[in-house]
Amino acid sequence: MMTAADSPRPRIALLATGGTIAGAGTGEGAAYRAAVAPVGELIAAVPGLARLADLHAEQLMQIDSADFTDSHLLQLARRVAALCARDDVDGVVVTHGTDTLEESAYFLHLTVPSRKPVVLTGAMRPATALAADGPVNLLHAVAVAAHPSSAGRGVLVVMNEEIHSARDVAKVHTLRLDAFASPHGALGGVVEGAPRWWRALARPHTADSAFDIGRIDALPLVGLVASHGNLRREPYDAWVAAGARAIVHAGFGGGTVPAYLRDAFIGLRARGVLLVRASRVGAGPVIRNATFDDDGCGSVAADDQNAPRARLLAALALTRTQDAGEVQAMFLSY
Ligand code: SIN
Repeated sequence: MMTAADSPRPRIALLATGGTIAGAGTGEGAAYRAAVAPVGELIAAVPGLARLADLHAEQLMQIDSADFTDSHLLQLARRVAALCARDDVDGVVVTHGTDTLEESAYFLHLTVPSRKPVVLTGAMRPATALAADGPVNLLHAVAVAAHPSSAGRGVLVVMNEEIHSARDVAKVHTLRLDAFASPHGALGGVVEGAPRWWRALARPHTADSAFDIGRIDALPLVGLVASHGNLRREPYDAWVAAGARAIVHAGFGGGTVPAYLRDAFIGLRARGVLLVRASRVGAGPVIRNATFDDDGCGSVAADDQNAPRARLLAALALTRTQDAGEVQAMFLSY
């Protein structure tokens, strides 16, 4: 009779990209350098990992996630999609710096055409810290990626015993271990070493997304400007001059535009630039035609997407259409 010990372990590809999870202290107080420990060291720090899964590790890059550009995003998505397409891979775990983890996760969520689990994780403390969180986060990420119930849920972010959807999650604290949160709540948690689910995502993703990394050569430039009192038009003009095809306005409250900048914003469409109204608040929808005439100005309301994710969705949308109405429909759908 076959025992649990005989049953084949799930085959998980582990892609390391750097970040604090691979960070090491410099010996001066709390200072450390991100992205120095190689993937083999991350695995060696987690007892029991090999019992959970048959791991195939790869050092895709070794960078601080602040250094992620669109070309890194494309490289990561192509590699994850290629791994997911293989018969000998059951799931993928990506270790990533926490600073832009939510952006990479969302990009993969929209562009990797696979139902296999893809899980991102990182750490708030470097690998050399007294109570490093990287090893347990990695253990949990592999446990989630290896579990059959994780398939078809979109790209997941596992941090601090919680499982978040890449559609919703954001880093909301600079230091604490519970630095990641989702406005609509986590999808689930890691309980006794296995995923336990509380809810499912309603919006399309991965295999049901219109954006397939296999058909994307490059991303159009999309800028982002955060609102503040005494806002001026120069940052918007600078993005236009840089060749941006869209600008995400992280507006006050529900995506509000200052009255004294209204004409400049209305003029963006005539200059070939799509205005996407998001919010600097971090939760809640921006409603079309509320506080701004989106119909008249050809602009787009970002629904409940935060500004960094709105940048990515706008860029992906512009690879498919130039029509503001169609881009709006994508924001309401994804
Ligand atoms: C990074 O994002 O690469 C550094 C910070 C972190 O991982 O927490």
